[in-house]
This record gives sequence, C-alpha cells and structure tokens, in this order.
Amino acid sequence: MVVLGIETSCDECAAAVVHNGIVLSNVVATQIPFHSKWQGVVPEIASRMHTEWIYDVAGEAIKRAGLKIADIEGAAATAHPGLLGSLLVGLHFAKAFAWARNLPFIAVDHLLAHLYASRLVIEGQDVCSADYPFLGLLVSGGHSVICRVDNFDDVTVLGTTVDDAAGEAFDKIAKHYSFGYPGGAAIDKLAQKGNSEAFKFPMPNLYKPYKQGNDARYDHRYDLSYSGLKTAVVNQLEQFRVLPDTTDADIAASFQKTAVEILLRALFRAVEDTGLQTIVAGGGVAANSYLRTRLEEYVHTADNKQTELKIYFPPLELCGDNAAMVAGLGEQYLLRGDRSPLNVSASARVRAFKRR
Ligand code: KG4
Ligand code: ZN
Repeated sequence: MVVLGIETSCDECAAAVVHNGIVLSNVVATQIPFHSKWQGVVPEIASRMHTEWIYDVAGEAIKRAGLKIADIEGAAATAHPGLLGSLLVGLHFAKAFAWARNLPFIAVDHLLAHLYASRLVIEGQDVCSADYPFLGLLVSGGHSVICRVDNFDDVTVLGTTVDDAAGEAFDKIAKHYSFGYPGGAAIDKLAQKGNSEAFKFPMPNLYKPYKQGNDARYDHRYDLSYSGLKTAVVNQLEQFRVLPDTTDADIAASFQKTAVEILLRALFRAVEDTGLQTIVAGGGVAANSYLRTRLEEYVHTADNKQTELKIYFPPLELCGDNAAMVAGLGEQYLLRGDRSPLNVSASARVRAFKRR
C-alpha cells in the first residue's frame, strides 16, 4: 500500500511516502535555525511554521517518490504525543488529504513510530527483521523508555525516567555550556575530542531490592533518572573534577558516558530478567555514537554471556523525527484494516503504551 505519512509533533515539518515497508521518499524540513536563538523549541513559532510549510513538504515527498497525488492509497499522521499546536497542523492536513481523496486514514503514536523505524527499508542500509517480542529502547527529547514490544501496536513499559528524559539532559547541558543547538548532536561531536574519564559524575541509585515473604521484589529496577546528573554537571562541576586542566570536550565526554551508562545499566537488567535476546532502539538519542558503540561492543564481546543478543538501530536519518516512520507504522495499521475516524483529535500526552 502506498502511504503518505505526516509528522509535525515538534520542530521538524516532515512528510514521506512508504510502500511495502520501503521508504520511497523522506522529506524533513527542519526549523532548527528558527529556534536556535532561544536554544529550545518555541511552540508558537513551531506551529506557525508547520502551517506555512506542510503543503509544500507533502508535495515534495510525493514528487521525490516519483509519484502523483493519485498514486497515494492511504494517509497517516502523528496524533500524540507532542506540542499540541504543532500536532494539530499535520494531523488535520493528513485528515483533509484523506477526506478529499476518499482514502483510508490512520492516526499514529509518535513513540510507537520511533520503535518501528528500524524495520523500514532504505536502499543500502541494514534493516531490522527481528521477530516479536523484543526489548525496545526508546530515547528521545521528551521520553526515555525501556519496554517489551510484542507487536507494532503492543508495547509494555518496563521502566522510564522519573524526571528528565535522556535527550532533555543532553539539551539542557548543551544550553548551559553553550555547546551548540540542538544539544545532543553538539555534545556527541564535542565529546569525540574529550576524555570521558576526566570527570566522575554520579549515577542515580533508584533501584531498591526488597523482600516480600520469600520473594525478591524490585522497585525502579528499570527506571532512569537524569536530574541528579544534570545538577552535577551544571552546578557542582568542581566537586567531580578528577583531572587538572580539563576542557569543554572533557565535560561533554564525561557527561555523555554517564548518561549512556545510566541507560545501559537499566537495559541490561531488563535483558537479564526477561531473557529477550533482541534489543531495538529508536528516537533521536539512538543516533548517539557512544551509545551505538557501547551496545555493539556489549553484543559482540566474545566472553559476554549474552552471545545470542542482537541489537538493531534505525539508520541515522530515521532516528530523529521523520515521517517515514509514521508512514511505515501507518501502513501496518491500514493493511490490518484499522482506520481512524476523521474527528480523531491530537493529544500532548502518550497514549499508546501499556504499564506493567
Ligand atoms: O526523537 P527526537 O528527534 O524528538 C523527540 O521525539 O523528542 O529526539 C530529539 C532528541 C533531542 O533531545 C536531541 O538532543 C537528541 O534527540 N539527539 C541526540 C543526538 N542526536 C539527537 N542525543 C545524543 N546524541 C546524539 N547524537
Ligand atoms: Zn521523536
């Protein structure tokens, strides 16, 4: 099925065409230059720009796919979570497109779309063909979630952040030190030149084992926290200085290492406990080079007990916000016969995840 996907949940105005899981086009018009002055996304600017751009961006996606409007067989758009004003623009555009062409329409969840991204086929790139169930590592600007994924629409949260998201911590630290905007990519780049052992930042201690009768129980076993690390890096730097003459790059590298190790500690506990042998990552932070290297190392270390373990990352262009993941996930729903009513509304909050 040829599906047009639309994504406007934050500051990327994106449209894409997917057919049988193959990405035919993937257009992302970024608003980064318009928000960089404020070192963060200004919601009002974002929604206004989506309104101005969405028509051309969607047209460009159809053109780059080598198709005509009449070739599109279904439409999908992100409905949640995200900035409400921004979401509404893309959602209503896609609904109007489907209504005008009498096409099936589906509203999708942005986080499920991130988790689906690695299954999409882009020419020349590896594709994830992992069977369900697997462990999902969803790390973006607004969310950090370790989950069990039983199907493209069946996700159970095992652990999540109790305060800031991982990407949010990257963004706030980059903003504080003026490392660049957006923060995650800027820190990743700066950290390449730094010494990650220069500062020893604290790891949060959320995990509390306790006994109930004869059973061992755990609180927060897979949960994450970033506010302590953020405070340490921003306000208490001198307390954690272990090497003299440290540079910005050392701060970036030491922070990045700690931020990623926080994620991995919880993730590896989940691997151990669930016995699931496949990890699928998604979201903007999944582009992080230290995270990718550490996970590959973990999987490929010869003396690692988890020799069967496999890890899949989306191609870099599908880690951050894009509409190919929306079209791809939308195609799955539409092929199953699912349809959203045209009065479906947007929501700022996550709706699609089950809790344990
Ligand atoms: O998935 P995404 O594009 O948007 C949301 O759904 O939030 O994720 C954006 C987040 C931002 O916090 C950004 O700083 C972070 O992903 N990010 C990175 C990298 N590239 C983007 N974080 C760490 N390393 C990167 N290379
Ligand atoms: Zn996202």
